[in-house]
Amino acid sequence: MWFWLWPWFRSGLARHSLRRASVLDAGRMAAIHAEGFAIGWSREEFEQMILERAVADVLVSQAPFGHVVTGFAISRVVADESELLSIALDTEVRGLGLSPALLDRHMGHAAQAGARTMFLEVAEDNGAAVALYRQAGFAEIGRRKGYYPGTPGAARRDALTMQADLGRFDPTPRFG
Ligand SMILES: CC(C)(COP(=O)(O)OP(=O)(O)OC[C@H]1O[C@@H](n2cnc3c(N)ncnc32)[C@H](O)[C@@H]1OP(=O)(O)O)[C@@H](O)C(=O)NCCC(=O)NCCS
Repeated sequence: MWFWLWPWFRSGLARHSLRRASVLDAGRMAAIHAEGFAIGWSREEFEQMILERAVADVLVSQAPFGHVVTGFAISRVVADESELLSIALDTEVRGLGLSPALLDRHMGHAAQAGARTMFLEVAEDNGAAVALYRQAGFAEIGRRKGYYPGTPGAARRDALTMQADLGRFDPTPRFG
C-alpha cells in the first residue's frame, strides 16, 4: 500500500522514531499485520488489545507528507510474565535494521509494566524473526512439532518457544 514511499525510505532520508501505541494506531497495525501473517487481526482486535492494557509500541517513519506508522510490537503482561503477541514491520521498512530498536524499547516497556520475563512463539523457518529474537537475548526453551501449517502441499513447520530475561531493563514505570 505504501510501496510508492519505498525509494524515500530506502534513501535514508526518512527519519524513524518510536512511541507508545494508542487506539488511533489500530488501523495501521492491522494493515501491517495483514502483510506479515496469513491470518490477520482486525482493527477492532487491535483496539481491544490496547484498551485491555496490552503493552504496545509503534515505529513511526517520516514520509514526504507527514508521519506513517510502519511497525509495531504488542505484548500481554500478566503478573511478572509477558508474552510477545506480535511484532511486524511494513515491507517497505524491513531490512533497514529498525526491528532491534523497536523490540528493545518494547521489552523495556514490558519490564516497566511489571514483567520479569518475556515469552514468544515463532515459526522455526522465520529466519529474520529468529535472528532478531536471538540478538535480543531470547533463547529457545521448547519446540512444537508441526505447529504451523505450511504453504499448500508443503510440510507443517515447527514452532519454537523462546524466553528472554528482562532483568537488564529499568522496571521504573515511565511515560513514553
Ligand atoms: C521479523 C521482522 C520484524 C524483522 O524485521 P526486519 O527489518 O526484516 O529485520 P532486520 O532486517 O533488522 O533483520 C534482523 C536480523 O535478521 C537477519 N536476517 C534477515 N533475514 C534473515 C533470514 N532469512 N535468515 C536469517 N537471518 C536473517 C538480518 O541479517 C538481521 O541480522 P543482523 O542485524 O545481524 O544483520 C520483519 O521481518 C517482519 O515484519 N516480518 C513479518 C512479521 C513476522 O514474521 N513477525 C515475527 C513473528 S514471530
